[in-house]
Amino acid sequence: MKILIAVAGKTGTALKCGALLARLLPGAEVTDLELDCPDPAAYEAVIVGGAVRMGQLHRKARAFLEQNEATLLARPFGCFVCCAFAERGDEYLRRNVPPALLAHAAAARCLGGELDPKRLNGMSKFVIGSMARSMEKEARPAPALDPAAVRELAAAVRTELDR
Ligand SMILES: Cc1cc2nc3c(=O)[nH]c(=O)nc-3n(C[C@H](O)[C@H](O)[C@H](O)COP(=O)(O)O)c2cc1C
Repeated sequence: MKILIAVAGKTGTALKCGALLARLLPGAEVTDLELDCPDPAAYEAVIVGGAVRMGQLHRKARAFLEQNEATLLARPFGCFVCCAFAERGDEYLRRNVPPALLAHAAAARCLGGELDPKRLNGMSKFVIGSMARSMEKEARPAPALDPAAVRELAAAVRTELDR
């Protein structure tokens, strides 16, 4: 069973989520949309995910969703975002995923996020520094991946495929 997991991020979290999903979905291939743009019609199911910056899903993930909407509507589909403010995940999904695709998705989830200054430089490092400080002030735990959400997304797509 061929499953495409197409991801786009800047510092590796979205790719990490893709790899975690692939471990739960035998036959899945992870593609980095920064490097490659596969044809989703060649797959039986597709998951698309990406990192959020300034409220926007990575442009390659957005473009992939928009350009392949009809193909994705015709097969089991799931999507995810990676972001630091998990409670805003549903808002980011609504804002960035075409509504028909969101309605069609077996699952659309925030899979959590990571803030690692070592992976960044310049303005990005400054932005996450201030995000991390405001989280600390509110005594919020540092953002992290959400393994339960990864499992739920994989299970929902698997269930659609088994139908
Ligand atoms: C410049 C910058 C802007 C960000 N903007 C947001 C944001 O608007 N909302 C949010 O929840 N997380 C935001 N984040 C956190 C990222 O979504 C998080 O670090 C995520 O794990 C990045 O995924 P990636 O490693 O695949 O790029 C931002 C991070 C950076 C560096």
